[in-house]
Amino acid sequence: MTFLFVLGREPKISLAELEAIFSSSKVKQVGSNLALVTTHSVPLNRLGGTIKVAQVIDQPIQDYLSSLPAGKITLGISDYSERANPRKTWELALKYKNLLKRHGRNVRLVPNGKSATISSAASHHNQLGEKTNHIEIVKYGKYTAISIGTQNITAYAKRDRARPARDAFVGMLPPKLAQILVNLATAGAKTGTVLDPFCGTGVILQESVLMGYSAYGTDLSEKMIDYSRKNLNWITDRTPQLQKTNAPKLRLEPGDATNHKWRLAQPDFIASEIYLGHPLSAPPAEIKLKALQQDAKILLTSFLKNIFTQIPSGATLALAIPSWRRPDGSYSGVNILDEIDKLGYNAIKYRYASYDDLLYYREDQIVARQIIVLRKK
Ligand SMILES: C[S@@+](CC[C@H](N)C(=O)[O-])C[C@H]1O[C@@H](n2cnc3c(N)ncnc32)[C@H](O)[C@@H]1O
Repeated sequence: MTFLFVLGREPKISLAELEAIFSSSKVKQVGSNLALVTTHSVPLNRLGGTIKVAQVIDQPIQDYLSSLPAGKITLGISDYSERANPRKTWELALKYKNLLKRHGRNVRLVPNGKSATISSAASHHNQLGEKTNHIEIVKYGKYTAISIGTQNITAYAKRDRARPARDAFVGMLPPKLAQILVNLATAGAKTGTVLDPFCGTGVILQESVLMGYSAYGTDLSEKMIDYSRKNLNWITDRTPQLQKTNAPKLRLEPGDATNHKWRLAQPDFIASEIYLGHPLSAPPAEIKLKALQQDAKILLTSFLKNIFTQIPSGATLALAIPSWRRPDGSYSGVNILDEIDKLGYNAIKYRYASYDDLLYYREDQIVARQIIVLRKK
């Protein structure tokens, strides 16, 4: 089966995530923010970088629509083609509505407004692709696909904002980015343990257990371990699957990632956001930038050396490391790639995303996150 994926704000990072989960040969980028993926199933709720997924259909759309089960139909159309036009998309929606009416169906159309596509919020709100007869037709060029769902933005917002223990100084990783890091590290493995040696308030641990992995978090700060515990208890209380006897396990303890001995025979996957340094309100001066880069490099290399002897060959590490905005708007990060080989790791390469593409930032932030994925040789 072929699925059309609508990618998130950082399409290259989303593509790397899809390559990790489905393997590069099954993923094909189309357009700037779309991908076609050949697969049997799509774990939409676990994909931080994908906004919407639709299954490509071979039969004519008229045949598909006339074969829908009886009952009221909620229908929307999104056309992601380069030259799509909101008015034409709406005309098409009216045409399909009339077709369905001729087949005796009652149809409610979801307006696409000034855009040729229905926003993810509107798709989610109308449960398009999520309930029987809540249909979103997704078009791209010659492809016609039927939505199987949209990212659950309400659930993400809740997991992000309602957690009891938050720390503005540590900064919190968005849950979507935490999922991406976990996917880059686990590459779709069904089980295993995700280790986060800089766990902070525990967003990566939270997303790992929700994705079915056991989680092991350590942090230099006792306070952060306490915060992670509070947050993980909070999510467990709200998630029946985490309360079962066979639920993923959680382990937390304080530890300095540069010398800690983790008590696991084999942490299978490492996903972590290393210390990003102090939050900054303006781009640092060149001297300050050099010092920040040097500190981050020392921390990162000391951590990589320490963990090297504790993980098996082939273990994968997906790390978010800092990169700083310069006054001219460019980013300057930690110069680590030359060291990787000497430290005994390979940097994983993606077909659609270069190292520079894996930069996650917001316009209003000075410290961006550079994603690196390493495999122990
Ligand atoms: C960017 S924060 C991680 C935030 C985390 N992703 C979250 O969800 O809140 C980095 C964390 O690294 C911790 N840290 C700093 N130096 C460390 C070290 N040497 N070993 C372990 N943790 C360290 C800090 O206490 C901080 O909690």
